[in-house]
Amino acid sequence: MRLTYLGHSCFLVETAGARLVLDPFLTGNPNAALSAADVKCDYVVVSHGHSDHNCDAATLAETNGATIIANHEIAEFYAARGFKTHGMSPGGGHDFPFGRVALTIAFHTSSFDAESPTLYAGCACGIVIEADGRRLYHAGDTALFSDMQLIGRRGLDAALLPIGDNYTMGPTDALESLDLLKPKVAVPMHYGTWPLIAQDPVAFADAAGRAGHVVKPLRPGESLAL
Ligand code: NI
Ligand code: MN
Repeated sequence: MRLTYLGHSCFLVETAGARLVLDPFLTGNPNAALSAADVKCDYVVVSHGHSDHNCDAATLAETNGATIIANHEIAEFYAARGFKTHGMSPGGGHDFPFGRVALTIAFHTSSFDAESPTLYAGCACGIVIEADGRRLYHAGDTALFSDMQLIGRRGLDAALLPIGDNYTMGPTDALESLDLLKPKVAVPMHYGTWPLIAQDPVAFADAAGRAGHVVKPLRPGESLAL
């Protein structure tokens, strides 16, 4: 499994059987590694309805014929617009040809805020991907919550964790989340896109290292083999 950071909370996950883009936000993202038109993928996985997590979902689905995987409400939103979708709910997962995708709980809000902040988009979720003998957790946007220990219990090869503060966990809570998740490696996300969520990922990685965790900040475009 190969993980490439595309900026903000957007990652490309390449498995032996498929290419997945998680939380596509490239258009309008000042740190985007690629333009949406240049991304090749088979699946798009969306954690929640906020535009900084799904604004390029339709473009990627259209240009690639990709299937959008998300909670039921987001899946129905895109299905009504003619896209291939697979909806599920937190605690549920599905075995796809390349591997398994499951949704977890997350503590955050969710609306199609690009259309209207009151347009319901189901609940905000985290994402677990199991493929090629690897297990990956993308936390989406979330607060720290104690049930992260349940997500970590079966072992995580990597955890992608927000550290930006204000809208999500900041570095202090993200550090605590590492104690619950115990991933082999964590990659920080959801920081630096705007001044409000400016953070120092190297300082976070250093603090995590002192606590016995491995954190690897990735520059947009940089990859990590899991
Ligand atoms: Ni959000
Ligand atoms: Mn966000």
